[in-house]
Amino acid sequence: MSKWFEWVGLALICVAGSGWAMDRYPGVGRAATVAEVRAWDIDVRADFRGLPEGEGSVVRGRELYGAQCAACHGSAGESDAFFTPLVGGTSAHDIRSGHARALAGSAAAQRTTFMRLATLSTLFDYIQRAMPWETPKSLAPNDVYALTAYLLHLAGIVPEAFTLSHSNMANVQSRLPNRHGMTTDHGLWPVGEAGDGDMGNGGIPDIQAERCMNECRAVHGH
Ligand code: HEC
Repeated sequence: MSKWFEWVGLALICVAGSGWAMDRYPGVGRAATVAEVRAWDIDVRADFRGLPEGEGSVVRGRELYGAQCAACHGSAGESDAFFTPLVGGTSAHDIRSGHARALAGSAAAQRTTFMRLATLSTLFDYIQRAMPWETPKSLAPNDVYALTAYLLHLAGIVPEAFTLSHSNMANVQSRLPNRHGMTTDHGLWPVGEAGDGDMGNGGIPDIQAERCMNECRAVHGH
């Protein structure tokens, strides 16, 4: 997505490849093997670069989810007392507009994954990289597609008879409830001089707020 990430990735590969650590600290470390670099290089970007080929259906995803995810995330992604819900708080209206309306008010008790999710690649990448919690990176690409498809179905984004694959991810992206909800106004992402591949837009972090100790909502009209 950004040059910054590419440079860091490239630097890591160069360090491993040139044996820098070994020259500097004799006897310590070894060059990463091609297989190790490949196992590490699994990120899927917002433009779907890095997406492995494969496919998985909602029905298959339901089976996998029941066996490997429901214990922590609830049988319908509603979660339990400990985990923030994956699904909920979005509507057919949001699918059309691309903005999760519930984020604007304070009616929603929690911000679910689908309320926040602006890029489908993030959901795929996260499941592939980090879930299930006890055995991360144990899922084959087809399993990740199936699980992502099932969660999309629970959120009302795709029908039950749907199969998600590398070739239709971009279509589904165009139905994500909060796809237009990403902002860089918080100023926490860098902006370079060249303007190429920057993540931020030059916004300023909210460090100017006035202190408010009581009745703040009323005072500031939120
Ligand atoms: C043992 C409990 C456990 C199991 C099983 C588990 N998860 Fe998770 N999951 C978590 C925890 C804890 C987090 C939050 C991790 C964090 O914030 O660092 C999480 C986070 C997530 C998120 C990101 C939520 C967000 O909005 O940030 C997704 C998506 C997810 N899990 C999907 C899955 C899927 C799919 C499976 C099954 C393959 C699964 N999880 C299995 C505990 C679990």
